[in-house]
Amino acid sequence: MHWEIFFLWLEVLVRWVHVIAGIAWIGSSFYFIALDYSLNTKTKLPLKAHGEAWQVHGGGFYHLVKYLVAPKNLPDELTWFKWEAYATWISGFFLLILVYYAHSQLYLIDTFKVDLNEFQAICISLLGIAIGWIVYDIICRSKLGDNNNLLVLTIFIFIVFCSYLFSEIFSGRGAFTQIGVMIGTIMVANVAMVIIPGQKKVVAALIKGNQPDPIHGKRAKQRSLHNNYLTLPVIFIMLGGHYPMIFATDFSWIILAIVIIIGALIRHFFNSRHAKKGSPWWTWLISALLFILIMFLSQIGKPNISNDEKLTLLKNKINYIVLTNAANVVEVHCVMCHAQNPSWEGMNIPPKGVSLETSEEIIRNIDMVYQQAVLSDAMPPGNLTWMEFSQRESLRRLYNEIIEYRKNEGLWEKLKEIL
Ligand code: HEC
Repeated sequence: MHWEIFFLWLEVLVRWVHVIAGIAWIGSSFYFIALDYSLNTKTKLPLKAHGEAWQVHGGGFYHLVKYLVAPKNLPDELTWFKWEAYATWISGFFLLILVYYAHSQLYLIDTFKVDLNEFQAICISLLGIAIGWIVYDIICRSKLGDNNNLLVLTIFIFIVFCSYLFSEIFSGRGAFTQIGVMIGTIMVANVAMVIIPGQKKVVAALIKGNQPDPIHGKRAKQRSLHNNYLTLPVIFIMLGGHYPMIFATDFSWIILAIVIIIGALIRHFFNSRHAKKGSPWWTWLISALLFILIMFLSQIGKPNISNDEKLTLLKNKINYIVLTNAANVVEVHCVMCHAQNPSWEGMNIPPKGVSLETSEEIIRNIDMVYQQAVLSDAMPPGNLTWMEFSQRESLRRLYNEIIEYRKNEGLWEKLKEIL
């Protein structure tokens, strides 16, 4: 079995686990939110209890009682809900490595935006994920944290800003997944770094017979609320990475902002219903209108320049003599095999699908050509066509020229253009 196929199977397996873990996490979190909103606080309750609910499921009846701080006697055994979240993150991160980091050239990098090498792209992605959480956490712990509405607005602006930034650095699909992973990480870190540690402190204080600090409960509630509203957008982003019309448009970052609003509206609908505060049907109407807006934005934001046009642009910028020299070398030493109809005896298709008949094709495959015929003498096989050192050098010159051009297309040039 070829390694590539092995990794593909691994990807299938990890994706499967990731989706299952995600279902378990979001399922239990939706369940508890619904339970929380539907608690009846007016019935006769045990001492220190806050509310209760009666539910029926799977042939039995459940009687649930909620204590805001804790019951008088803490039971020996408590069921914690945290592994659903952790497993989702761990499997998701593994998937990120398998798909986006192992194939960063395909999925993460767009050399027409910023000419990153694989190492740089992965570092920026990892830093982005870490900084996303750190900044979010600082915002929540700052003075803004006292005002829930202002806090939510600030976080919204922060996320939209990040998604704009990523869309300028990475390919459309890479940027979309990057922001999804950033938000997902914030949600899991909320569980791992704030909600669970706070709960542990409360339990420890109770066991010692002390009064727990109410700040932990307050903080957990706030982070839980954020997670609640971020759930739907994150799922949309994760699925959106499979649909070019969602990510391959200039407005993908605005689409993302709208999706966050839709997610919040729909959560608001369900939260209101669970709390028996009526059914705000207007949320669906506005969501539908916003979704139409997304379709419209996707349409008008379609890339107006095709890859072929980009290639022609690039070709026109490259030094003509360098290009012609390289093309002549390829013509003599490679094209007998690397053509749509190879003239090499017994060969009917271009080997590995690499055709090098036109200068566009040479430019498009220049990285591979450089590896095969300049950095190594793997090509032509066994140096069948007697390629001289000086001829390899002319391929190197073309490669250097293209790299130089890609660098100049970098973020700095863009910034300078804007300023
Ligand atoms: C005699 C036929 C022949 C000639 C001439 C030839 N190649 Fe190849 N090339 C092959 C074959 C066969 C393969 C597939 C090798 C493999 O399966 O690993 C290949 C593969 C390649 C690949 C793809 C490598 C990969 O692993 O994906 C590149 C790039 C390449 N050749 C470039 C060149 C260049 C540049 C030249 C001229 C300097 C050249 N080849 C000349 C037969 C040829």
